[in-house]
Amino acid sequence: MTRLDFMVITVVGTKGGVGKTLLACQLASYWHSQGLRVVLLDLDPQGTARRFANAANQAGNSCPTTLGVGGDVRKAIREQAEVYDVVVCDTQGRANAPAVTAVVLADLVLAPCAPTVEDLDALQTSTMEIIEQARGIREDLCGLIVRNQWSAQDTNMSTTVYQALQTEKFPVSRTKIRRLVAFNEAVSAGVAVTSKGRSGAAADLLSLVAEIEGILGIQPVQTPEAVAYA
Ligand SMILES: Nc1ncnc2c1ncn2[C@@H]1O[C@H](COP(=O)(O)OP(=O)(O)O)[C@@H](O)[C@H]1O
Ligand SMILES: [Mg+2]
Repeated sequence: MTRLDFMVITVVGTKGGVGKTLLACQLASYWHSQGLRVVLLDLDPQGTARRFANAANQAGNSCPTTLGVGGDVRKAIREQAEVYDVVVCDTQGRANAPAVTAVVLADLVLAPCAPTVEDLDALQTSTMEIIEQARGIREDLCGLIVRNQWSAQDTNMSTTVYQALQTEKFPVSRTKIRRLVAFNEAVSAGVAVTSKGRSGAAADLLSLVAEIEGILGIQPVQTPEAVAYA
């Protein structure tokens, strides 16, 4: 990825376990591995993203700077954006002021959704409430619903959920991030799945990265790694 300016990506969703922290950590780690200056801001008091960074430090793996943000989110994002190329915000699963602020300041909002009735319901109600609040402040908000924990083969349920998601104001990702053990292993090691060589999980992550970079109009750097997975 190349860019002249900073970029803020915020991952939101009111339901726990939908994959906010996983996506935030994997994307931040991937861009970090590509040589970008990346900061991961953990807006969740539970500190799951910070656990990811601790795991990386303990294993001696290089990972993006990861900071807990408990106070003024606007100030924190603005300050970090002065220093870093990419600011990735992992939010708590609540429609609270920090989440709305991080969404308002984002160049791109990511809302993960698994193919379940519960995830669909949460996304269409309380998650969209955050997004609508933010839209009230910022009309041109740009977002992507990320299909996470989807299987490669469609099921009746995943097709139903996918069709229902099409009615939302944000587009749905072409990429299906599958539910794969490699993601859990990468989380435990504090690394991006792409650091472990070629795998289905790496292919899924790179597909999402390409989609995000396309939305943001960023020319991807064709690294040997990216070419290998293409
Ligand atoms: N695509 C996936 N494949 C495998 N495990 C996943 C995937 N997405 C999420 N998980 C796991 O599910 C759990 C909850 O995900 P997490 O990112 O912490 O959700 P949230 O931050 O939305 O509460 C974590 O253990 C995470 O590693
Ligand atoms: Mg989380």
